[in-house]
Amino acid sequence: MKTEFISSILPNAAVDSLFVVDEVTLRNSSNKKSYISCTVSDRTGRLPCKIWGDAGMNESDIEGYYNTLSQSQGDIFRIAGRAALYKGELGINVNDGIVYLGKPADSSKLSDSDFINSPVDIAACKKQILALIESIGDEDLRTLVSSAVTKADGFFEKPAAKGRHHGYFGGLCEHSLEVAKTALSIEESLSDVRLNRDLLIAGALLHDIGKCQSFEKKGLSYAALPEYSLLGHTATGMMYLSRYRTFTDAETFRELLHIVQSHHGEHGETLPQTPEAWAVHFADNISAKLHEVDEDLKSVKPGESVRGWRSDSFVYRSPLTQSDAAYGTGNTGAKGTTPPAKGNKESGNDRDGKKSQRSITDSFR
Ligand SMILES: [Fe+2]
Ligand SMILES: [Fe+2]
Repeated sequence: MKTEFISSILPNAAVDSLFVVDEVTLRNSSNKKSYISCTVSDRTGRLPCKIWGDAGMNESDIEGYYNTLSQSQGDIFRIAGRAALYKGELGINVNDGIVYLGKPADSSKLSDSDFINSPVDIAACKKQILALIESIGDEDLRTLVSSAVTKADGFFEKPAAKGRHHGYFGGLCEHSLEVAKTALSIEESLSDVRLNRDLLIAGALLHDIGKCQSFEKKGLSYAALPEYSLLGHTATGMMYLSRYRTFTDAETFRELLHIVQSHHGEHGETLPQTPEAWAVHFADNISAKLHEVDEDLKSVKPGESVRGWRSDSFVYRSPLTQSDAAYGTGNTGAKGTTPPAKGNKESGNDRDGKKSQRSITDSFR
């Protein structure tokens, strides 16, 4: 039975527990020594983990462990090392504990629920999304959205990204719901601006539908498919939605596709040209950016600021808003993900690396 959880790990503490391992990459340190970078997770959060091996190991030893781990992504391994803060981010370093990484742990007596990382109440989220779809007045559009959402592969289970924001089970449905609710609050607040509520809900819920074609389940985690980087989720979303062309009239369908196509705003190929497309674009950024800032602040002491890798900006923890989850209570990596490799945008989190150059908040492209 698992007793040690990520939410209770403090800086400098010894760690020896079972975690799901994924996002495994082989990297080189500044002194040209190979090490393994990965993410470890359980139901309470995710942390970056660096596996250095012990002093007597050579390059081929490290590569051997890398091959095992990379072929077993999503499996449970025993991680024995020490927690440390690096640039304000909590992580785990493994040295001698590498000997436990030759094969996955025996999971026959373990409960999957201890290892699946998700802060989302997926059932509640799904209920709200289905209620929003029901509220679409245009019957044809309502049927289209309902079919597109319920028939997509894993809309209610898959993450919205591997890093930065909503990178956990249920992240895509949580993010889509947040975008829809935020877009509707824009509509309510700007009463003089003419916005089509039906298109707003449809576009918000479907703007990232392409992410369903971007992940596959691997063990107790999700791994990115080649579509993740080869095509990007806007293109896969447009391809997926094309099957629904006959569900509604040509003008409504064109405007729905425009919302999806332009939701990255000035960082995408197509700028929004309708009020609904702009509203979804802004709502998307609000949902993504505020989650990124919130996550970046998890390991920051009150009164200090750090450069957050998720938000790609400086974040400041106000002493006025310190919560139980603040630094010092151990909850320093509740939804954390592995930061991109410095100076190596083609390894590991390359998608996140590209994103940091763009400053757009929607990381998964
Ligand atoms: Fe997106
Ligand atoms: Fe999004």
